[in-house]
Amino acid sequence: MAATNPSHSPSYDDLMGLFPPGSDLAPDGTLRIGGCRADELAERYGTPALLVDEGALRARARRYADGLTARRTGGTVAFASKAFPCTAVYRLLAEEGLSIDVASGGELALALAGGTDPDRLIVHGNAKTDAYLGAAVEAGAGLVVIDNFDDIDRLERILATAPGREQAVLVRVTPDVRPDTHEAISTGQRGSKFGLLLPQAREAIARLRGSDRLRLDGLHVHIGSQILDTKPFVQAVEAVAELGDFAVYDLGGGLGSRYTYDDRPPSVEEYLDVLTAAAEASLPAAARIIVEPGRSMVADSGVSLYRVVTVKRGGEETFVAVDGGMGDNLEVSLYGQRFEATVATRFGGGEPCRLVGRHCESGDTLSAGVPLRDPRPGDLIAVPVTGAYTYSLSNNYNGARRPPVVFCRDGRSRPVVRRETYEDLMRRDVV
Ligand code: LLP
Repeated sequence: MAATNPSHSPSYDDLMGLFPPGSDLAPDGTLRIGGCRADELAERYGTPALLVDEGALRARARRYADGLTARRTGGTVAFASKAFPCTAVYRLLAEEGLSIDVASGGELALALAGGTDPDRLIVHGNAKTDAYLGAAVEAGAGLVVIDNFDDIDRLERILATAPGREQAVLVRVTPDVRPDTHEAISTGQRGSKFGLLLPQAREAIARLRGSDRLRLDGLHVHIGSQILDTKPFVQAVEAVAELGDFAVYDLGGGLGSRYTYDDRPPSVEEYLDVLTAAAEASLPAAARIIVEPGRSMVADSGVSLYRVVTVKRGGEETFVAVDGGMGDNLEVSLYGQRFEATVATRFGGGEPCRLVGRHCESGDTLSAGVPLRDPRPGDLIAVPVTGAYTYSLSNNYNGARRPPVVFCRDGRSRPVVRRETYEDLMRRDVV
C-alpha cells in the first residue's frame, strides 16, 4: 500500500510536514506538539504515549464541515469513530457539531458518553446483534444502516415492542468497485462481506418500502480505507445511482492519509470536490449527502512518543528498540503501513535504522530503514500520523499497558485517557 523509500534522508520540511500543523522545534531543537515539548510530555505522562494536537483535530473537523457546506446544501459530516473511539474524541467532535458513525454497541455507548446527539448517530455493522440494535433504537439513533436481511427482521421485531416508533434506515450497497488499497481494508468489491450487491439491494429496498416501522431514507456505500485516488469514489456514486432516487446518500469514508514522503493523497477539498461533483452528476439535486471520514479526520493529529531502550549495532542493520510497538500500533503488522520517525531531540534523518518494538515477534517493527540521527538509549522517538486506528487496535500483548492519550494545545497538555496499570490487566479476572 504505502510507498517505501528507506534510503530517503528527509529535509526539515519533508519531515515536519508529517507532524500536525503547528508542530515546531523549541530553541534547543526539541520537537513540540501543540506547543508542548516532547521531553516534558514524556516526563509527565511517561512513554509510550499517544499525543493529539487538539487544535489540528478541531481544524480538520471544521475543514470537513465547512468544505462540505460550501459545496452542497444540507450535507453532513459523520466521523467514523472506529478510527479513534475514545470518549474525549467523541466529545470534541460532538462539540464541533459532527455526526458520528458507530459500528458496535461499545462505540454506541462511547458516543453517547461523549455527548453525541442520538439523532446524529449512524449505526453500522455487518453483524448487528439484538442487543446492539435494541440499544440503538432505545437511544433514538438517527439512522441505522441495513447491511443484510437479518438486520431488517431484527429491527422489525425490536420496533414491534415500541409502538409508534419508526426507524429511519439506509441500505448499504456493495458497488463492485475495487480501490487500490490493502486487501484487508477494501470493502466495496464483489465478494465483500459488507453490504448487498445491486440485485439484493433492490430486494431489500422493496421489502423496506413495504415496512410500516422502517422508513427507507436512502443508500450507503463505503468502498474501503487509505484510498489515494479519487476515481473509485466516483465509480461508487455511479453504481448506487442505478438504484433510483432517494433523499439521503451516505458516501462512506476512505480518503487516505499522508504517512510517508511519497504519499500524495487528495486534500479534503479535492476529495469533496470530486464527491460532490459525482453527486451533482448522478444523484438527485435535493438529496442530502453524508460523508464518513475516519482516518482522514484523525490520522495526522496524532503522534506516538516512545523511549529508546536499546540500540543494537554491528549486525546487518541497526536495531533501535523502543518501549512500545505492536501493542500500541498494529498498522504495520496488519496492513504493512509505512511510518516515518525521528529522534525528538535530534530532529531529522541520519543512519537508516530498523525501529522495532519490545514485543516477542519479529513482525514487531514500527519502521524499517528509517533514517534516525545518532539514536541512543534514553532518546525519545516521535512517530507521526498515528491518530487513526492505533488507539482502536491497541492491545495487551506481552502484558503491555495501553498508553495514555494526551491532548496538546497552545503549550498546555491534558491527559484524556490514562495509562493502563498492571491492576487493570487483572481487573477482569474471576477469582
Ligand atoms: N464508514 C464505514 C462504514 C467504514 O467501515 C469505515 C471504515 C469508514 C466509514 C471510515 O473509513 P476511513 O475514512 O477511516 O478510511 N482497521 C483498519 C481500517 C479499517 C477501516 C474500516 N472501516 C486500519 O487500521 O487501517
